[in-house]
Amino acid sequence: MMTNEEARSRIELLTRELNDHNYRYYVLSGPVISDYDFDMLLEELDALEKAFPQYALPDSPTRRVGGDITKDFIQTPHEYPMLSLSNTYSEAELTDFHNRVVKQTGEDVEYVCELKYDGVSISLTYRDGLLQSAVTRGDGAKGDDVTANVKTIRSIPLRLKGNYPSGFVIRGEIFIPLDAFRRINEERVASGEAPFANPRNAASGSIKMQDSSAVAGRPLDCFLYLLLGNGLPHDNHYDNMMAARKWGFKVPPYIAKCSALQEVIDFIHEWDTGRKELPFEIDGVVVKVNNYQQQEELGSTAKSPRWAIAYKYKAERAVTKLLSVDFQVGRTGAVTPVANLEPVFLAGTTVKRASLHNADIIQTLDIRINDRVYVEKGGEIIPKIVGVDPEGRTDDSMPFTYLVNCPECGTKLIRKPGEAIYYCPNENNCPPQIRGKVEHFISRNAMDIDSLGEGKIALLFEKGIIADPADLFDLRYEDLMGIEKTIEASGDKTERRIGFREKTVENILKGIEEAKKQPFEKVLFALGIRYVGQTVAKKLAQQFRNIDHLMAAGYDELIGVDEIGERIAESLLGYFSVSANRHRIDRLRKAGLRLELEETAKPLSDALKGKTIVASGRLEKFSRDEIHRLIEQHGGKPSSAVSKKTGLLIAGENIGPNKLAKALEWGVPVISEEEFLALINYPEG
Ligand code: IVH
Repeated sequence: MMTNEEARSRIELLTRELNDHNYRYYVLSGPVISDYDFDMLLEELDALEKAFPQYALPDSPTRRVGGDITKDFIQTPHEYPMLSLSNTYSEAELTDFHNRVVKQTGEDVEYVCELKYDGVSISLTYRDGLLQSAVTRGDGAKGDDVTANVKTIRSIPLRLKGNYPSGFVIRGEIFIPLDAFRRINEERVASGEAPFANPRNAASGSIKMQDSSAVAGRPLDCFLYLLLGNGLPHDNHYDNMMAARKWGFKVPPYIAKCSALQEVIDFIHEWDTGRKELPFEIDGVVVKVNNYQQQEELGSTAKSPRWAIAYKYKAERAVTKLLSVDFQVGRTGAVTPVANLEPVFLAGTTVKRASLHNADIIQTLDIRINDRVYVEKGGEIIPKIVGVDPEGRTDDSMPFTYLVNCPECGTKLIRKPGEAIYYCPNENNCPPQIRGKVEHFISRNAMDIDSLGEGKIALLFEKGIIADPADLFDLRYEDLMGIEKTIEASGDKTERRIGFREKTVENILKGIEEAKKQPFEKVLFALGIRYVGQTVAKKLAQQFRNIDHLMAAGYDELIGVDEIGERIAESLLGYFSVSANRHRIDRLRKAGLRLELEETAKPLSDALKGKTIVASGRLEKFSRDEIHRLIEQHGGKPSSAVSKKTGLLIAGENIGPNKLAKALEWGVPVISEEEFLALINYPEG
């Protein structure tokens, strides 16, 4: 056992070392130990902090995983108001800005150019080197205290290094890199949630979540770009930012000092092309007067400082003709209008289709067929229509009405209160929805049947061989052998034949068989219940242990579980109330899928340790499998044959006479079911 003193110093050392590794990994992007070694040290620290909570430090890296739940964020005033920047879109306006600055200061000015990161701004307060609070911008005078969430962002230091001032405020932008953004959206779509429209929404949604451990799972990052305080080491912005980098902050390298307006313009041009290669989104360049004294002289308006300006890049935009509108029904039943356009070249690719968002926007923008429309490409996955060219409207312009019935199955569409999207409620019969259900069911994070893919599933659907995930488990060799079809590969016009030959069929059947080994939580996720993503499925599996308990749970019981809110509870209740869904679950159960948690974990007791135990005859309370599991849970080894080594025989009704005789012969104790239960302290009733 460790002494208190040993624990305290080990905790201190581990905290310091782990924070340093975090810094090297997340700020410098140059780790010096493996992820595995890092995790081992973190686990050690975590265990020590649990045993000696009095020594846990405020900057402990174990806090990065979150855990605190905030129901309502506390409104906190900003010590320095959080202003915004005035925008310009042209070099002429930029020149105006420069002329004003020169005139008002009467001096030469030096500028600092930075990129304008497109995320959510955050204000961090540090005192004596420790992160005190993190507050969102809010209305500029006060914002939400999101400290618990921000502490999960690994690139934000909890404790500073080097020679930092005792108290100061530092501001920056929290964002989600593009590849991580795409990944989150894929996961959201897979769990039936609406994808985020762009990385900025993803970042701001993440930072306002109530459960900080969920925030810890979001790939947030943070660039810092402004320091405020009395004891800053230098008299200018640039040098202070460089100092902040030494204290451990992620001050981005995309920063330049410019002593002439032309240099500023060059910087802007350079990044207009350069931004396309960046792994995150920017929407412009920020130009700041470097010298603090000059900044002060220039002052601020109520909204923005006069010493800085944002030059915004124009989103790339093209004009083209709207030919027609398709309505697509997704896996979740959400109906999305998609515009078919006269092909137009935009930012490197030819655009033929664009999102029309939803009914509200179509109405607001008054978009009509044959109109000339503006198309923009932002961070979104497909380009969007942002407006109509009023000049371009001709006689053949044709208003179109939103669908009333599902284009796939004819069911009347519904619109949920407060949501702009229409849904087809016919989730168990509408073709794209049921096909989507199967696609989701077999997907990598669900049942992971990789011998089946979207193409094969589509074919099985078309041939009427499957119409439900549960049908997969009834498939026989004869059902699959020999079916084939020529399909048009997505995207281009090349054709591909897919046919099921011997090897393919064997692989498919093997994959389906393997899927029966997937744990309960995966099966639960695979069902595709709206809002039940991987994390929620795991939580539900742990909490309810098996599907029957989950199906029996009422509203209150559901929302009583951490992280399960009204939305999820209602979705679960709705799902289980549909008989087709219950029937599917029954069929999956019969097929042998795991609908309960594996209880391989720790034994409940060691009351039966080392004993081989046989149960024979009909028991009153348990099936054979159940009693075997119970024996294992208490450290015993179930067996079906009585031998010299048998430690106990549980005798049920109509016990086999041979077994009983053998037990008597070998002197094996024979006990009743009731006595057995007493032995393991099984709760009565
Ligand atoms: S300086 C007083 N620098 O743009 C202005 N802001 O419209 C202080 N932003 O709220 C902000 N990149 O969220 C500054 N390099 C940068 C920035 C930046 C993005 C955001 C920030 C701010 C908004 C202003």
